[in-house]
Amino acid sequence: MITIAIANQKGGVGKTTVCRELSACCALRGHQTLTIDADPQGNLTSSWVDSDVYEATLSHVLIEPESTTGVKVEPLPLDDAILESPVEGLDLVPADIRLARFEMQPDYLTHRLRNQLQEHGKGYDLVFIDCPPQLGKLLTAALYASDFVIVPCASDAMGLQGLSDLAFTIEQVRKNVNSSLQMLGAVINLYKPQRNLSAESRSAVEAAIGLVGHVFDTNLHDYSKVAEAPSQKLPAVLYAKSHRASDQLWSLTEEVLDRLQMSRQKISAVK
Ligand SMILES: Nc1ncnc2c1ncn2[C@@H]1O[C@H](COP(=O)(O)OP(=O)(O)OP(=O)(O)O)[C@@H](O)[C@H]1O
Ligand SMILES: [Mg+2]
Repeated sequence: MITIAIANQKGGVGKTTVCRELSACCALRGHQTLTIDADPQGNLTSSWVDSDVYEATLSHVLIEPESTTGVKVEPLPLDDAILESPVEGLDLVPADIRLARFEMQPDYLTHRLRNQLQEHGKGYDLVFIDCPPQLGKLLTAALYASDFVIVPCASDAMGLQGLSDLAFTIEQVRKNVNSSLQMLGAVINLYKPQRNLSAESRSAVEAAIGLVGHVFDTNLHDYSKVAEAPSQKLPAVLYAKSHRASDQLWSLTEEVLDRLQMSRQKISAVK
């Protein structure tokens, strides 16, 4: 099992999109994949399933229920919150707004996601965790549970803000709790070729992003098909199979798998 956190405390840079598409592509390539929604906004969850198909969520796994008897009650095991997604080979741990309470929980619970994954995640080749847009306990819990971090960045100046804070957080986690955490790379998302980037500005972007990892060669362009796919409960690679957006997402997946040095099983039916 290899666990990858998709993280950036900056909002709206494409964490959920990259998490959804990479998870789907890896499952479609034949890797048993689990995707975990670690954001109380629940955007990853709602992009896959309606809220009436699940009861247990990540908050039930990470937060101790309030006890009426004074006896400590254990949260649910991770297994109880795992659902099948619409993509074969891809399972999901959903989240909703109740997960926001995790930020107020005692520090020792930040270890629980890692422990639960070690216990219940063995059947998966890959686990992707969609992190929330803040530098809080949920992000720490996700980084503690992960082997690698992928950082999606929007390629405008606003989208690049705060990368040094994220780099600092990752470094703190590495120093204090998870020395094996590695940056797998940064993805430039929402790329608008007509507006940017000249070779010069790409190197400025790469210098800024370099703080959080080697930049992947594939840029993800701003394509409406990518934004439309979640409302159909599909990844863009299936919703818009022959669109350029799909090619880019597959190409990013190849780069990710190459960096992970994983075998690449071609599933010809997909493309
Ligand atoms: N490459 C893209 N092309 C078109 N739309 C995109 C692309 N990437 C992301 N979007 C859209 O931009 C919005 C923000 O993306 P997303 O939700 O993935 O970002 P996020 O970093 O997870 O946001 P948050 O910080 O709120 O969790 C969404 O509406 C999404 O559909
Ligand atoms: Mg998100």
